[in-house]
Amino acid sequence: MITRDLNKAIECLNSEGIIGLPTETVYGIAANGLNEIAVKKIFEIKKRPLTNPLILHVSSIERLEEIADEVPPKAKTLAERFWPGSLTMLLKKKASVPDCVTAGHPTVAVRIPNHTMTLELLTKLSFPLAAPSANPFSRVSSTTANMVEKYFGENLPVILDGGSCTVGIESTIVGFYGDEVMIHRLGGISVEQIEEVVGKVKIFDINDSAPIAPGMLKKHYSPITNFICTEDVISEIHRHPNNKIGLLLFKNALQDFPEHVQVILSEKADLSEATRKLYQVMSSLDEMNLDLIIAEKFPNYGLGKSLNDKLKRAASK
Ligand code: TXA
Ligand code: MG
Repeated sequence: MITRDLNKAIECLNSEGIIGLPTETVYGIAANGLNEIAVKKIFEIKKRPLTNPLILHVSSIERLEEIADEVPPKAKTLAERFWPGSLTMLLKKKASVPDCVTAGHPTVAVRIPNHTMTLELLTKLSFPLAAPSANPFSRVSSTTANMVEKYFGENLPVILDGGSCTVGIESTIVGFYGDEVMIHRLGGISVEQIEEVVGKVKIFDINDSAPIAPGMLKKHYSPITNFICTEDVISEIHRHPNNKIGLLLFKNALQDFPEHVQVILSEKADLSEATRKLYQVMSSLDEMNLDLIIAEKFPNYGLGKSLNDKLKRAASK
């Protein structure tokens, strides 16, 4: 049930339950991150493989000490600059964190979300919240309480309604290797923003080795409808003459194409606005009984790079 009542959420979380939780990036499914029984319920409801670790959410840097050890200097700098916010860091885990949260990895993923309601909730709890995105495994993440309810309905007795997510895609994940910073997942904070603070970073390449962050799995965030992303939308339309096609466009509508199957993400070419709308638009196009969704690639800088990454994964077979 959708509610704004924090007490209902607290009661549920304190008795090993799971809830729908708003954050500024995407909605999560949250549970007591130090309680194995509660955490396992997250994996069950999402049908998520136990090999895919979870992010722990805390309310302050002080509370970070309860779960992580040996915070490297660059992590401290990034935390000061971006927390609360859409950055997740992989840090050495403390023994208090159950292995099922980290899928046996020696690191734990942590962030302080930038959402008033959720920060208030976290300060009222005695434990961090484990929370993956609120979508069945490999489907498009939810950015409103209604999307969460559509996916999980009665199986989630409490869905906290914190409005539409202001960022709209998942957090950026970074790891630390000696003095080097590596981006494991592109997300709501751009590569350029991070490099401004810590200098050049590496971006985890899916072809290098087995994916460490399944956000880097090739297929992820997918609509059910066939999905293609391209720089040249018109040629792609001609390639599929007998299909019912929907278009996901960055800033310009296409003349001579039915208006009701075109969605423009940002008429003023604002990448933040496009980011905010992407998942809602993907899921509404997905409900239109189309044969094919053709998405236009974004300019490849700033958030555009993160958005192109999401499109590429949605399109991957
Ligand atoms: O914006 C977000 O990060 C949202 C909101 C709810 O906070 N959460 C989210 O969680 O996107 P999830 O579970 O959908 O994605 C977390 C990603 C997964 O790809 C997981 O593999 C990776 O983080 N991850 C978690 N712990 C890790 C670890 N110790 N090492 C490497 N990757 C890890
Ligand atoms: Mg996810």
